[in-house]
Amino acid sequence: MTMTETATAAPKRVPSKRTVLMCRPDYFTVSYRINPWMHPEDPTDTSLAVKQWEVLYQTYLDLGFDVQLVDPIEGLPDMVYAANGGFVLDNIAYGASFTYPERQPEGPAYMAWFGANGFEVRAPDNVNEGEGDFLLVGDVILAGMGFRTASQSHEELARIFGRQVITLNLINPSFYHLDTAIAVLDPSPAPGEQPNIAYLPSAFDEASLAILRDRYPDAVIVTEEDAAFLGLNSYSDGYNIVIAARAKDFERQLRERGYNPIGVDLSELLLGGGGVKCCTLELRR
Ligand code: ARG
Repeated sequence: MTMTETATAAPKRVPSKRTVLMCRPDYFTVSYRINPWMHPEDPTDTSLAVKQWEVLYQTYLDLGFDVQLVDPIEGLPDMVYAANGGFVLDNIAYGASFTYPERQPEGPAYMAWFGANGFEVRAPDNVNEGEGDFLLVGDVILAGMGFRTASQSHEELARIFGRQVITLNLINPSFYHLDTAIAVLDPSPAPGEQPNIAYLPSAFDEASLAILRDRYPDAVIVTEEDAAFLGLNSYSDGYNIVIAARAKDFERQLRERGYNPIGVDLSELLLGGGGVKCCTLELRR
């Protein structure tokens, strides 16, 4: 295919300004094991984690995003994965209630930040890990379960936000949060436009796969190779998509479809089982 053909085949992508919350990994380390990526016996380099995180932070600033910061807390090494801190939509912040005791204090810490920053906070009745398992795609919320988030929280979410919530079952422990298995490519679709996603088919059971195939016939299908370093765990403004630098096939597919993939290296934070999206919580007023 020539350049001109590529350009005419791919629709024009329009970026939209994002507002996100991040948490500097000042206390990042791997001192317990709550997912298969984590090996507490192996060393981590906190200053390298901070350096790599700062590249992501600067990338977002360069894209014109409004980036808010929550103070990291000593003793909460996973707090850098801000996506798990809640789910924020229509100025309402639904708080997280973490599965494992090691992360439970993060729930109230993030809720305190939401409250202090003008969001209406809803304390959760059910176990859920925020935007790690809840993804807004157009009018609907895709909600993961199987490893962390309890299905009852899906109902709670539907009640609070009055949106359709679609439950998806995760089956591979390495892809334990929905944001490790699905990427939202079009966060603010124009009216009438069908937003698209990228996903890893093997992360889902058959019933969930049938839902995804039916709803997103044109989805980007990510390779096992790219998923093997959380290549899907990316963040899009509708045109620019910040992805893992090593996810080469994903990068190629995005480019072919008219997006602008931007690679960053978060190898140190991958030791905790997280990537670009895990470090990013979307704030929607
Ligand atoms: N160590 C963290 C955990 O296992 C990583 C969280 C990654 N976050 C995400 N949104 N996928 O809970």
